[in-house]
Amino acid sequence: MKSLPYFCRGEVIRGFGRGSKELGIPTANFPDSVVDNLPADIGTGIYYGWACVGNGDVYKMVMSIGWNPYYKNTKKSMETHVIQTFKEDFYGEILSVVMVGYIRPERSYNSLEALIAAINNDIEEAKVKLELPEPLKLKDDNFFTSTPSSSSALPPTTASTSQTIMNGH
Ligand SMILES: Cc1cc2nc3c(=O)[nH]c(=O)nc-3n(C[C@H](O)[C@H](O)[C@H](O)COP(=O)(O)O)c2cc1C
Repeated sequence: MKSLPYFCRGEVIRGFGRGSKELGIPTANFPDSVVDNLPADIGTGIYYGWACVGNGDVYKMVMSIGWNPYYKNTKKSMETHVIQTFKEDFYGEILSVVMVGYIRPERSYNSLEALIAAINNDIEEAKVKLELPEPLKLKDDNFFTSTPSSSSALPPTTASTSQTIMNGH
């Protein structure tokens, strides 16, 4: 995928809330403006990378892009699980991510337990791959230190321009 690593940021919006409740794996959803701006070569599937909430620390993350075939969603989503325990949810905050690599396609599973096990495998794979020298460098990218502290710093109308700047920063 020529567009990787891919940098993007956006406000955290509410999903269906199943990540925390049913899976025990909370996910932060991006708005349509971010989902619709994905380059064509970044297809649906599971990715790993780095993430930062507001001006906070940079943590490992896994992300699912697509229609969640297990739940048969009708709308494409981009859901990030930050590999870190947070005391509170962060709806309304700006989430900055760099997608570093691809793990697997999205699948439907026979049970919730199987979906949870697959996501936990993704998390373990991400933890290992992000320790390799090239992925590790991206944790310190200046993209994360230029994080806006509020959503007003990123008007939706500038989404495509800022997207270009992000990947050419
Ligand atoms: C790393 C990761 C892998 C995922 N893999 C799948 C998958 O293979 N199939 C699927 O239907 N959903 C997958 N999901 C999406 C979850 O089903 C989704 O995050 C959950 O339904 C919560 O969505 P909600 O926040 O909109 O409620 C994955 C999510 C993550 C974070």
